Amino acid sequence: VLHGSPKGEISVTMQYVKFLMKKFPEHAWTVEQIGVNPSRIENSRGVFGGIIDSVRKADIVLWSFPVYHLLVPAQMKRFIELVHERGAAKAFRGKYAAALMTSIHYYDHTARNYIHAVSEDLGMKFSGAFTPKMDDLSLKDVQRSFLDFFSQLISECAEKSALPVSYPAAEMKPFTYKFAKAKAKINPENLKIRIVYDGSSANAKAMAGRVGSLFDSAVSADLSELDIKGGCLGCLQCGLRGECAYDGKDGYKEFHKSMILDADVIFFAGEMRDRYLSSRFKMFFDRSFYRNHMPAYEGKQIAWIISGPLSGNPNLRQILETYPETSHGNSAGFVSDESRNQKNIDAQIDALASRAVSLALKKYVPAETFLGNAGRRLFREEVWGHLGVVFAQDHAYYRKNGMFDFPWKKLSNWTIVPFASMILRIPAVRRGFNKRLKKGMIQGLERIVASA
Ligand SMILES: Cc1cc2nc3c(=O)[nH]c(=O)nc-3n(C[C@H](O)[C@H](O)[C@H](O)COP(=O)(O)O)c2cc1C
Repeated sequence: VLHGSPKGEISVTMQYVKFLMKKFPEHAWTVEQIGVNPSRIENSRGVFGGIIDSVRKADIVLWSFPVYHLLVPAQMKRFIELVHERGAAKAFRGKYAAALMTSIHYYDHTARNYIHAVSEDLGMKFSGAFTPKMDDLSLKDVQRSFLDFFSQLISECAEKSALPVSYPAAEMKPFTYKFAKAKAKINPENLKIRIVYDGSSANAKAMAGRVGSLFDSAVSADLSELDIKGGCLGCLQCGLRGECAYDGKDGYKEFHKSMILDADVIFFAGEMRDRYLSSRFKMFFDRSFYRNHMPAYEGKQIAWIISGPLSGNPNLRQILETYPETSHGNSAGFVSDESRNQKNIDAQIDALASRAVSLALKKYVPAETFLGNAGRRLFREEVWGHLGVVFAQDHAYYRKNGMFDFPWKKLSNWTIVPFASMILRIPAVRRGFNKRLKKGMIQGLERIVASA
């Protein structure tokens, strides 16, 4: 079991693992805590080597982790990067893999897709993911499904079942993007332009530089130099009043406030590492959890500049689009360097920048898709429910900003809807209703069109 929660033994997900270990005592279990003390794993070759050794000896690798910011926690992401950087992927090759992940079901599917793709990149056969909501282990039917899920994994491994590859490698030939200053400037008045990039990637840094050269007053910041002590620890001390275990220890919050909360347009520039951006980027996003479920990108334009084969990774694209969409911001667009054509990339960066600025000046808010709409409803429900005890700052914010806009709060849903449903039981009324239904559906809209 490669367990990725920074809470280690006292994590929610770990209780599911312990449940399995008790129910399947006939198997030899080894749990490696890859989410705890990541710098020790990174800096001690012995510790890292020990984990890889236990993978090598295993028949099955079970990734176990909480969903953090639509993916795995940054600490676990770093471990996966180390496996690639240190050529340790061989230890995983040919094994059966599965994932156990707990969450509140907000984009657990993107985390599942990620770990599925990562497993296949490591040469493993991915049997499936079990994705309960945090405290579902208390439900008998979930317990039963969980045991069935695990038995299936065991039998597929024992029978050496053939499993198809779902995420073929997304690769790109090497390409060096060279920074070239833009000839013309875009200088919108009264807009705060921010550029957040991961300078550990030369291409991302150079593309961020191109964006910077379009403006006189954009503020740029390199995440690889950010004063950030570590990833989110999942301690939830933030829930009541936004306090963070790192307060006074690093500069993350000030950075987040000035570069994100205070911005009108944000350009994020980073390189794809495995099936996401870098773990540094992930750490940056995870730590924004000090604001819990309060919208961070409301009214902002977010532009993505990616180095790597983005078109081969729709899961990453969806994750990045969701970040602003859930909080009523706008994903202004994407540029990647995968065309490997300098002129093309420059032109696309310039066009994206001018588009983001133009939309910001209009204060453009997009119509929602399922990504943002469903995400906000899920948060609304959770914050209003028992999570509202732990996330008191969310609860106060949602109440103050009219975000508890449940359908049961609409008087017409208590009056007109039941009354209409009742009279529609009368066959003659129903027949007339059905006849006029199509026309009725556009009545209000027609009035708007007529007066437009
Ligand atoms: C930083 C952070 C980010 C989170 N992001 C998500 C998320 O994107 N989707 C979700 O459904 N739950 C999210 N959660 C909730 C956790 O996935 C959930 O509480 C999980 O059960 C915790 O498991 P653990 O105790 O094993 O760490 C997040 C929690 C934290 C602390």
